[in-house]
Amino acid sequence: KPFARIVGSGGFLPPRVVTNDDLAAELATRQIETSDQWITERTGIRQRHLADKGMTTSALATEAARRALADAGVEAGEVDLIIVATSTPDFVFPSTACLVQANLGNKGAAAFDVQAVCSGFVYALTTADSFIRAGRARCALIIGAEVFSSILDWSDRSTCVLFGDGAGAVVLKASDAPGILGAELHADGSQMNILCAAGNVAFGQVTGDPFLRMDGQAVFKQAVTVLDRSARTVTEQAGVALSEIDWLIPHQANLRILTFLAKKLDIPVEKVVITVDQHANTSAASIPLAFDVARRDGRIQPGQLVLMQGVGGGFTWGSVLVRM
Ligand code: ACO
Repeated sequence: KPFARIVGSGGFLPPRVVTNDDLAAELATRQIETSDQWITERTGIRQRHLADKGMTTSALATEAARRALADAGVEAGEVDLIIVATSTPDFVFPSTACLVQANLGNKGAAAFDVQAVCSGFVYALTTADSFIRAGRARCALIIGAEVFSSILDWSDRSTCVLFGDGAGAVVLKASDAPGILGAELHADGSQMNILCAAGNVAFGQVTGDPFLRMDGQAVFKQAVTVLDRSARTVTEQAGVALSEIDWLIPHQANLRILTFLAKKLDIPVEKVVITVDQHANTSAASIPLAFDVARRDGRIQPGQLVLMQGVGGGFTWGSVLVRM
């Protein structure tokens, strides 16, 4: 059975940077009070990149994909599977993956979206790994991309300060050497209400509430519990000790979740890749963006063990253990 190896990565952030001070000043014009101090202390977020009007998820995804393909030295035509993880697709259909495929000039690859909110990237990566291991694909492009700013209620300070826009991508190839060593995915739909954007368009009209709503404290508790359990399960199944992990890349929701998780797992915080301070929470894009940053700055090296962990709305969660 072939393994799936990560052979390249890329990231793209919209150029507009909005600091906490910028955001606080903007919200103040609408009598909404927040501050850099509140946001930094509670979340570790210092700034976020926001898409300008008209900048779509597929546009961000395409740029991240181009960078990942260039990094891997792979031509778009070689790709036979494209998966985009997103909760903010351009359209109901076609899928964002098909839009990216057209932008890249690829013809014939299987292309579809995965919707598992902030766990979307680990869901997509696990799916692609399964395709490659089963011999159904040999070269896959996996992208997490979001314009989360489009589903935020900008009058709700408890959520609008937390998120940013962006896209990250990896290229996976079939290989005799590992590769992805293990993966596990879970969901608990009975907890759908702690984090949701429960609107839709039906009969040409918006139904329900299209904005993101969150019970922050419930999400916090769930996130650290399930990520801790999932990290233990996926490493145990792969016969790897937690102490052997070189880099932990959890979904970048909140600095307090990341440090709390590292402590529970007894992993030094220096081994946790942290981008939430710069990117805020970019949902499905946060893990591949963080992965790309740490590869490009030389932290992640060939042969190292990387544990990626997603958690988010659904409620969904999962982990992927990778030998670089
Ligand atoms: N600026 C200033 N004050 C604020 C802001 C803000 N942006 N937002 C909320 N407050 C106020 C509240 O109104 C409240 O005021 P009150 O006491 O007068 O009522 C006070 O701050 C405390 O509010 P809480 O919601 O209790 O604050 P908490 O300490 O729980 O922090 C937070 C909120 C940061 C969201 C926290 O619950 C958390 O980290 N949750 C994890 C969830 C998360 O990170 N979600 C990201 C998306 S989920 C995912 O990606 C998996």
